[in-house]
Amino acid sequence: MQFKTSAPSNIALVKYWGKYDNQLPSNPSISFTLNVCKTEMDIHLKPIESSNDLINVFFEGKLQPSFATKIENLFRKISKDYPVVNSYKWEIHSQNTFPHSSGIASSASSMCALAKAIVFFQNNHQDAQEISKIARIGSGSACRSIYDYLAWWGKSHFVPGSHQEFAMDCSESIDSMFHEYCDTILIASSDTKSVSSSIGHDLMNRHFYKEKRYEQANTNAIEILGAMRSGDLEKFGEIVEAEALTLHALMMMSNPSFILLKPNTLQMIERIRAFRHETDLPVYFTLDAGPNIHLLYPKSIENKVMPWLNDQLKPLCENEFLIQDYIKYEAK
Ligand code: PMV
Repeated sequence: MQFKTSAPSNIALVKYWGKYDNQLPSNPSISFTLNVCKTEMDIHLKPIESSNDLINVFFEGKLQPSFATKIENLFRKISKDYPVVNSYKWEIHSQNTFPHSSGIASSASSMCALAKAIVFFQNNHQDAQEISKIARIGSGSACRSIYDYLAWWGKSHFVPGSHQEFAMDCSESIDSMFHEYCDTILIASSDTKSVSSSIGHDLMNRHFYKEKRYEQANTNAIEILGAMRSGDLEKFGEIVEAEALTLHALMMMSNPSFILLKPNTLQMIERIRAFRHETDLPVYFTLDAGPNIHLLYPKSIENKVMPWLNDQLKPLCENEFLIQDYIKYEAK
């Protein structure tokens, strides 16, 4: 049996940082789904001949045993409901549309693509909620990658249908100002992260500011959704930047503490804020759990942003490397 699939990466506007039990989030998060950064997978299920090598993962053509370990972990957790994971030998060929060494995490896109395959092989259909649930068990933020545009994950009394176990589409009623957005990913460093996300999540469980952070994230998630519905670009940007800096401040104040930002990340932030100040253009940044900047701005001002970006930000990128990604709402 064979299945070819792909899934996109996503960038959180309000961050998931802290989890409990089986990858359940300590606070709700909301993300834009990207279009350029994707993982493509070609999966072959073969009869089991020996109990060795039940999962073989080839990443960009090369066998990667460390990737198989992560997948084994997921398979162990879901095998009761998805016996297909233990009934065959899985040969997975995976590749990204972005360079592996760009410092961009591919766990969200790869776990979402794999979840699509698991649901297909087991049930011969594709159900977004079911895929989201499996993707979450593989890698929390992956559960949001199943939706095309804007996704919400985590129970909130203010968002009907929201759930801890899976993400939902929340593109309804978003102001058209946000329907076509650019995300220029500025690579400050492609080094492997010194501290993994799982360690960061874990440190939140004994973080001095944990309760306050969860309270703030709940408020920010509701407020950003409100800002996106009313077309309030300024409020949107204010929350997005506060979330990015809070995420990194939490890391810096963890015990043990860690810093993922690089000097050029801070230089870029200064230039972005100065440009916004001078031009009044709605250009804001966010950050993942890493040093790279995601520059967010409406597609309608792209021609005003690009000359400045190429002149002022590109030279600060490692080897002048950036990825021009985008977010697009398509009415169903
Ligand atoms: O999905 P994980 O466990 O790799 O955690 C992702 C955490 C952040 O990217 C920092 C935030 C988020 O909501 O995506």
